[in-house]
Amino acid sequence: MRAMTLNDVDAVLGIELAVQVYPWTRGNFIDALSHGYVCRVDEDGGETRGYAVLMPVLDEAELLNIGVAAGQQRKGLGRAMLHEMLDVAREKNMRRVFLEVRSSNAAALALYRSTGFGEIGVRRGYYQNASGSEDAVTMACELPSPLTPLPQVGEGN
Ligand SMILES: CC(C)(COP(=O)(O)OP(=O)(O)OC[C@H]1O[C@@H](n2cnc3c(N)ncnc32)[C@H](O)[C@@H]1OP(=O)(O)O)[C@@H](O)C(=O)NCCC(=O)NCCS
Repeated sequence: MRAMTLNDVDAVLGIELAVQVYPWTRGNFIDALSHGYVCRVDEDGGETRGYAVLMPVLDEAELLNIGVAAGQQRKGLGRAMLHEMLDVAREKNMRRVFLEVRSSNAAALALYRSTGFGEIGVRRGYYQNASGSEDAVTMACELPSPLTPLPQVGEGN
């Protein structure tokens, strides 16, 4: 992965619009870049395949967004990007990473659970959906010190 720039926003937004139920806008990505959040893209041969956005706050961080292009899903890219964002957080001496996910998002929930995130709460009716609203599941991953290797793919699943 490499740092996202303003030049990446078109490609990232194209993926976002295709894969997210309620996608971020162009302005959301530009705001994330201008606030100095950790914004990364995964690129292969000039093709943008995925992206992730992490918001650091003191010694904690929130994973605000992660997406993989529809044609690239289920190949391990989401897990690899998530591991990289956790590595970045550890390098910045953060103690934990939070995120919120729709309770209906089985793919993301499975990814997070198998990458060391645990559920710490539920916000009832937090997200809009076609039938009105749905719950947000709040999850957290406690980070080991920067010198301790993260569990590898498949461990502890
Ligand atoms: C969630 C997302 C990022 C996962 O990316 P991915 O590259 O497809 O995921 P990976 O191939 O790394 O899979 C990692 C794990 O996630 C889970 N997973 C991924 N896709 C899944 C699916 N369609 N159904 C069930 N579990 C799934 C599995 O546990 C998988 O591990 P396994 O392959 O060993 O079974 C991707 O599906 C996506 O972009 N979704 C739309 C955007 C989104 O929902 N973002 C998260 C918002 S909180």
